[in-house]
Amino acid sequence: MTLMGVTTRLYQRKSSTAVINANAAVMMPTTRHADIFDCCWGGEERGARCKGLGLGEGKRNKRMSRFIVMKCRSKLIIPKKNPLLSMYLDNIFVYTCEFRPERYTICMNIISILRYTKSLFYSKKKSLITITIDRNALIHNLKEYQRAYPDIQFAPVLKSNAYGHGLIPIACILDKENLPFLIVDSYYEALTLRQNHIKSPILIIGYVFPETIKKSRLKNVHFTITSLSQLQTLHDLIRNPISIHLKIDTGMHRQGLLPSEIHQAITLIKHNPRLKLQGVCSHLADADSKRRKYNQAQLAQWEQSVQFFKTTFPDLKYYHISASAGLLHTDTTTHNLARLGLGLYGISTIENTKLSLKPVLKLTSIISGIKTIKKGDTVGYNNTFTASHDMTIATIPAGYSEGIDRRLSNIGQVEVAKKLCPIIGRISMNITIIDITHIPDIQVGDRVTLIHDKPLSPLSVSHIAEQCDTIPYEILIHIPPHLRREVR
Ligand SMILES: Cc1ncc(COP(=O)(O)O)c(C=O)c1O
Repeated sequence: MTLMGVTTRLYQRKSSTAVINANAAVMMPTTRHADIFDCCWGGEERGARCKGLGLGEGKRNKRMSRFIVMKCRSKLIIPKKNPLLSMYLDNIFVYTCEFRPERYTICMNIISILRYTKSLFYSKKKSLITITIDRNALIHNLKEYQRAYPDIQFAPVLKSNAYGHGLIPIACILDKENLPFLIVDSYYEALTLRQNHIKSPILIIGYVFPETIKKSRLKNVHFTITSLSQLQTLHDLIRNPISIHLKIDTGMHRQGLLPSEIHQAITLIKHNPRLKLQGVCSHLADADSKRRKYNQAQLAQWEQSVQFFKTTFPDLKYYHISASAGLLHTDTTTHNLARLGLGLYGISTIENTKLSLKPVLKLTSIISGIKTIKKGDTVGYNNTFTASHDMTIATIPAGYSEGIDRRLSNIGQVEVAKKLCPIIGRISMNITIIDITHIPDIQVGDRVTLIHDKPLSPLSVSHIAEQCDTIPYEILIHIPPHLRREVR
């Protein structure tokens, strides 16, 4: 029986439930099970109603193997043959059973892993926008911090899609560096790391519902306790041991227990062996400014708080208050770890002469269209640009949805053929228009740099942030996750 035979039969049974069973799959020596699998998905996307997906174990050729189960209605579409994907799906075949919603997520995860595997083989496809991640620069920056501050350890901050660099690509690089932990903001990010086989310990620094912590099955994940009430709820709720870092509010007044609540917290932790205290932390509110006063006040409060923990928990592993900029203020501070965000990605909001950092990310696109306009013509939404002379202009298929900040409209620049070209008119959702009058011989398909990895370039993240009257963090995290990151 061929695949065509099966699908045709299913197609004819329009009104009844279409069933592909394991035997049919095994009986198809010339086709891979992947084809059926692909076929069902293609069908769903194109309107065939799949009733459900699940995951189970089954016997095939006297061997136990995993299989995708699926029940679908109406027509199925025959997919293009996909030998590479089939290779990886060799152990998967289609079977029918009742829909089990709780297994839907597991199944979707498998599908995303398979799609990712497939994408590895097809990653050579040309894309309109390329985000390049420089692995060497990332490691260089980490080593720079380790060299300049040999007495403390560093934990990279990977929240907000690793500051726009791509959570998984960055985690994959850092996973091999034997770091104390990777820091994320949410439980979801921690889950994503584990689903992608990242093995390093993880610290979640954002708030997590106590119920989520209670139910968590994630291994080697530490939770930050951000208030006394959260600690109290956890104390009453949890049945299994959890690793926690206690955040102290030393003056930022955002997250953390007030110093006056420390004694209560210590009592709760001491009386509940399931609350495993791994660290104490805080955060500086004004670390990236030249003013020293507020930092000093916070650090004094920190030193006082730390003493209580040192006496009650002499073996406590981690004390951390500093992020990238905070290191300028913490030479004499009691701490043994710093949470490294922006600096790790090679960008600095302050001058730190101990370090020479390299930006990690570069964003390029192409010229997608060229035209000439006459003096007096206007460009883009709301006619905010009027040509003062006849001009040659070009479009780039990237706009504010792709991370090109709309505030760069009429003031930003891009680089084409090593020359700067002004952005003209309003940046649209997916298109930016530039003036290329001064550069002859530009052709459709030529490369354009929109964010440069050269720190002194006018297209550097820091410079763009200045032009937009914002901070580099915001420019970076607005680069959307769906764009492919190429690690070089
Ligand atoms: C609590 C906390 N720690 C560390 C960081 C990392 O800061 P930076 O990127 O300045 O190194 C942040 C960033 O927002 C943070 O909120």
